[in-house]
Amino acid sequence: MQALSVADGGALEDIVSLTPIGEPRQKITVATLRDKKLQHQPITCLTAYDYASARLVDEAAIDIILVGDSLAQTMLGYENTLSVTVDEMLHHTRAVRRGVKHAFLVADMPYGSFHVTVDETIRNAARFVKEGGAEAVKMEGGEKRADLIRRVIDAEIPVAGHIGLTPQSVNVLGGYKVQGKTLGAIEQLMHDAVALDRAGVACIYLEGIPREVAAMITAEVETPTIGIGAGPECDGQVLVFHDILNLTFGPPAKFVRRYAEAAALITDAVQAFRADVLSRQYPSDGESYHLPRETQQTLETVLERKQGVRR
Ligand code: KIV
Repeated sequence: MQALSVADGGALEDIVSLTPIGEPRQKITVATLRDKKLQHQPITCLTAYDYASARLVDEAAIDIILVGDSLAQTMLGYENTLSVTVDEMLHHTRAVRRGVKHAFLVADMPYGSFHVTVDETIRNAARFVKEGGAEAVKMEGGEKRADLIRRVIDAEIPVAGHIGLTPQSVNVLGGYKVQGKTLGAIEQLMHDAVALDRAGVACIYLEGIPREVAAMITAEVETPTIGIGAGPECDGQVLVFHDILNLTFGPPAKFVRRYAEAAALITDAVQAFRADVLSRQYPSDGESYHLPRETQQTLETVLERKQGVRR
């Protein structure tokens, strides 16, 4: 279906794409994200973990595609994000890279890959750029990671920060709990955000913090903030691909909005295929290959001769 735009005279309810037709889609860069913050244009971000989802997300004009370490759970079935490795993250980043043309591609550095020496951190980060095709790496942590992040940026690798409920710290935090609820915690979050801002990160992910705190941080820093469970005042919003499609096999977090029931859709399709095979409804003649007419005729002649010889 051809997308209809306001320029074509489409009524608002008819519009299926907000990208004006004929206008070439712009490649999103660190500078684009900064411009969007300055112009108060919301930034969109979704995770993607493979070629097909990356293509769909990119073609829907999402600004940032994040190969999140949440793939440990959504794609690999791990309990949490701690066990996913650099090689596993790279495998998925390469697949996503092949599906992305316009979005800014960020890859998560997994737990353990930047909790090492500065040199090893830079080596790991560079693998995401050289081998994975990422345009930035994401590192969890605020003030205490700021110097390290600065060194990675000095190595020409853009970095996305991530503070608040940082899942790689689940064992230290004692669970997936909303952060920044006390005055002391708010003060620390402000220090974290400002330290990342000064280090020159490309954007700051704010996860699982009160709306009021995210609003204060967003107003304070020049870096675009991308919220997840951080309220509407952030400069942008990110959600996990599997969450918006209900492909997670469990109840969603409070901030998740389901936009489709993909699990039910897939289950219906799989069950219908099974039923068709069991009842011999699949494949039909139209779904089968056929011999060319000439070969068919020759084959029939050969078979008839064989039968004649047997008689
Ligand atoms: O791994 C991930 O998907 C993330 C986002 C939720 C921010 O870090």
